[in-house]
Amino acid sequence: MPTDPGRPAYHFTAPAGWINDPLGVTWHDGPEGGRYELFYQFNPEAPLWTPAIRWGQATSPDLVRWRDPRTALEPGPDETGCWSGSVVVDEGRPVIVYTSVLADAPGMGRIALAEGDAEWRRWTRDPAGPVLPAPEPGRGLAHVRDPFVWRDGDEWRMAVGAGSTDGRPSVLQYSSPDLRTWRADGVLAEPEPNLPGPGGTVWECPQLFRLDGAWALIVSVWDEVPGGVACALGDYDGRRFAPRSWQWLATDPFYATTAFADSRGRRCALSWVQEADAGDGVRAGALSVPWLLAREGDRVTVAPHPDVESLRTEVQAALGPASLAGAAVVVGPLAAHADVDLRADPAGGPLVLTLDEAGGRLLTLVADPDAAELRLTVPGRPDARTPLHPEADGGLSLRLLVDAGVVEVFGGGGVAAARLRPPGGELTLAVSAGAAGAELHRLVIHGMAPATG
Ligand code: FRU
Repeated sequence: MPTDPGRPAYHFTAPAGWINDPLGVTWHDGPEGGRYELFYQFNPEAPLWTPAIRWGQATSPDLVRWRDPRTALEPGPDETGCWSGSVVVDEGRPVIVYTSVLADAPGMGRIALAEGDAEWRRWTRDPAGPVLPAPEPGRGLAHVRDPFVWRDGDEWRMAVGAGSTDGRPSVLQYSSPDLRTWRADGVLAEPEPNLPGPGGTVWECPQLFRLDGAWALIVSVWDEVPGGVACALGDYDGRRFAPRSWQWLATDPFYATTAFADSRGRRCALSWVQEADAGDGVRAGALSVPWLLAREGDRVTVAPHPDVESLRTEVQAALGPASLAGAAVVVGPLAAHADVDLRADPAGGPLVLTLDEAGGRLLTLVADPDAAELRLTVPGRPDARTPLHPEADGGLSLRLLVDAGVVEVFGGGGVAAARLRPPGGELTLAVSAGAAGAELHRLVIHGMAPATG
């Protein structure tokens, strides 16, 4: 087990220091069967964000057992920070495409490259300097950053997050034959006058990809503070993305979602789970578990990636069916690192889960079919909410991933998270529903093995 009981055991955290955006998750085949590389914004010196942020890197045979966290890229003498971006493989060579910022204009990023060796271990910044300068003053832009690069036929395309001097967000597109010379293609996406969508002043960390036969665009919405992750399904003609409908994919404390394909080509995502102030004083910030994305009509759904189940250890409880009318089902003691899987029929009313320790209540989760919402309440924090889409028969399937100070909840295709006061001891879970006829079909709780080193 990790030596620090308050440290999440299967949500990725830095050994020490601060992390924010996950970046460039890439599967590549190798002599021993292949592995994933994960990158992230990282400050090893303190549990605080700094403009002099660098790229961290970790490696894993799957999407949960991250090992060997290290620095991939630190700012060179000619730049203040290495901000977010993406990773591509160009004729077998991995290339980090990142935002190079200068202290006197950190909002106006330059796009720069760093090439990796065959082992993906040593990264060398392009000696020629940034491949795309910051936009000229006078173009009306105040923020440019976070290149997301993909291959389209014989060209590279790049989506870049942007915000204008008058406070309007957008995503810009560029194209290149060789990653070095870039042509501006104009605006890839911006708020559409007749379509309700996310506001904000900067759309950070854009991600554009195919999802089950449609195009999907994810943006992290900056609005003086991180304001959630929005997603649209729509059409893309090689230049412009036309959203058909927008939704919130994930709200606070999630942010900076990065999309990638797993070893089987399935669309996945990882998000930053923000943590206020300096975290526990040693480290701050965590990454979500890997998510599997899918399309249901005009909606993008989120579920835990199957690799998460590979960390399950002993069964701590297995119950059901049981009536929920009149009395709560109470189980415990539970370990502080657990995977709770339940299916219930709340008979039209709300289903309530509570998590307690000797010191008091840690968390209340309300799945409310009437309000069509999943609500997470932690004492002293604003509620986290996500839309709830019950299943056709009125049933609810919920996954609650409890990991010391981080909890993620998945239900009806949505996800919500909360930061908890790290539990000091054993936990008790109670499930209740007020409506007559409410029933718990199944409740299975597994312990979770520590995954990150
Ligand atoms: C998103 C973000 C990016 C930026 C990075 C800096 O959280 O603000 O837009 O590149 O963090 O760490």
